[in-house]
Amino acid sequence: MNRSLDHTTSLRIAIQKSGRLTDKTIDLLHGIGIEFDNYKRNLMVKTRNFDVELLLLRDDDIPEYVQDGVCDLGFVGANEVFEKNTQVTVLRGLNYGNCRLAVASPKDSTLLNPSDFEGKKIATSYPYLTKRFFEKLGVTIEMVEISGAVEITPQLHVADAISDLVSTGGTLKANGLVERFTILESETKLIQTQQALSEGKQQLIQKFLQRIDGYQTAKKSRYILMNAPLDSVETIKTLLPSMKSPTIMPLAETEMVAIHSVIPFDQFWDVMEQLQDAGASDIVMLPIESMIA
Ligand code: PRP
Ligand code: ZN
Repeated sequence: MNRSLDHTTSLRIAIQKSGRLTDKTIDLLHGIGIEFDNYKRNLMVKTRNFDVELLLLRDDDIPEYVQDGVCDLGFVGANEVFEKNTQVTVLRGLNYGNCRLAVASPKDSTLLNPSDFEGKKIATSYPYLTKRFFEKLGVTIEMVEISGAVEITPQLHVADAISDLVSTGGTLKANGLVERFTILESETKLIQTQQALSEGKQQLIQKFLQRIDGYQTAKKSRYILMNAPLDSVETIKTLLPSMKSPTIMPLAETEMVAIHSVIPFDQFWDVMEQLQDAGASDIVMLPIESMIA
């Protein structure tokens, strides 16, 4: 596409260069129609069809870049947003990259509950959140700040326990550690700078958000099609958990209709059995790319 873009209004978006959020963030951006490539090699990528520049950064740095207005928007874990205690606006919770900041101790340890940690050493890359958590409970801990490979510290007797991100739990298990309690539940957030933005950028952000919302709604929904006898239509309508009324089309075969609707994915299997009981057949479920109300 050869449309010339006004780069004074280019929206700058920070995403994680490589890590748990990268692939899904790239999928989301492609999913809302933003075209770009070479993101693995470059730190800054211009998109072809949307007035957007992507900056590929370490996730730890994203909240501050957005806070300072170097980037207008950022996709980053809540863990980083809250650890850095940054002044940014959280626009959306995106329900991917889910993980938690949790305290873990060796499997034979007697350190189980927060109160057991009085005077103990905890290694972490999340000093702010960890300290605040124990302070609120009136428990004094000794903090060992480490920037990586935190899970190895108990074996090295550098710390008694750790406070670190847990997703699958594989890393803890591999290091003989057991998760004891959660400090923070995290997911990917879309954040915006609180610095003043031009009218053009604000409009672009609105457009961007509308596309993200459409994409998110679509992800949670499925298009459902079925055939049914005419006399079961009223029952089927009451079973379909859709907000809008379904589309009903006559079939060549008399006394039969095709019913189309959009339903929440998490209800599909329950509903399908009830639909069958009500006389529906040839039930098909399809994914939806995007959905604008
Ligand atoms: C976290 C954490 C563990 C791992 C846990 O690191 O420090 O190493 O993920 O995941 P698991 O429970 O699925 O094994 P992360 O990938 O966030 O890397 P980073 O801290 O370097 O950004
Ligand atoms: Zn990180």
